[in-house]
Amino acid sequence: MKLNIPVEETIRKRISVRTYEPKSLSEKDKEELRKEISILTNPFDAKVNIHLIEKDIASNGEKLGTYGVIKGAKTFLGLSVDKSEFGLIAAGYQFENLILYATNMGLGTVWLAATFSREQFENAMNIKKNELFPAISPIGYVAGKRSVTESLMRKTMKSDKRKPWEEIFFMNSFENPLSKEEANEYVNPLELLRLAPSATNAQPWRVVKKQGFYHFFETHKSNTKEDEIMIKKVDLGIGISHFHQVALERGLAGNFEKLTDLKLQVPDNTNYVISWKIDK
Ligand SMILES: Cc1cc2nc3c(=O)[nH]c(=O)nc-3n(C[C@H](O)[C@H](O)[C@H](O)COP(=O)(O)O)c2cc1C
Repeated sequence: MKLNIPVEETIRKRISVRTYEPKSLSEKDKEELRKEISILTNPFDAKVNIHLIEKDIASNGEKLGTYGVIKGAKTFLGLSVDKSEFGLIAAGYQFENLILYATNMGLGTVWLAATFSREQFENAMNIKKNELFPAISPIGYVAGKRSVTESLMRKTMKSDKRKPWEEIFFMNSFENPLSKEEANEYVNPLELLRLAPSATNAQPWRVVKKQGFYHFFETHKSNTKEDEIMIKKVDLGIGISHFHQVALERGLAGNFEKLTDLKLQVPDNTNYVISWKIDK
């Protein structure tokens, strides 16, 4: 389902926000968000759960911790999903759609997968034991000036930069970069995927165009820990949300399929996830 917002414009506007005005979301904004949360879907047939809580109502009265990274925010979103083949991709997709919706409302957000106290939020959001709980995000009104911690983080992760096309998009094989001419009507879906946020700005997505398909891959080093691999899949879901939503906005038809026989030489540390089949 296409988001009912100007997608490309909103993707270009979105930026991580870690410094907020110290107040809760208004009831009106909360109501609008709850309504959107109740209608969001994903094209991967997985049930994604999105939670919304006030920091002050943590069950044990303890302040919910974000390790000094987040300043001011009082309202938080959380993301959980059952374990399944595409659960984490669907989670990344659906939560990013909410992040874009909130951005269009003028609200600040930031994906957090590492710098928060998982146990405290798990309790406060009543996450079930058998669910995966990949991330949360504060949600609120953007403060006038970034904290020193936030400015430093952006610099360290080069958050204003992204990898160039030729490092992530390929034609027919991983040896051959995809030109914008070859991408044709898919230049914008790919360009807006390229601008997506990812954990530590690692941008683990790779895409190969071949014979009526765009094949999506995820990369990580062989010594990556299990919970970090989990976040790479979420990153892929985020990138795919941008690709898909921009395709829908531009009236490009197709659907997602997992192929069993790719007939493609795949480099080390690169893992096939799913393909977009172009409808002619
Ligand atoms: C899945 C995911 C997890 C993230 N985890 C954290 C985190 O734990 N702490 C944090 O400060 N930022 C986190 N970020 C924010 C990224 O650092 C940020 O998106 C990236 O540097 C690009 O900056 P931008 O979002 O402003 O474009 C995360 C982003 C994503 C997509």
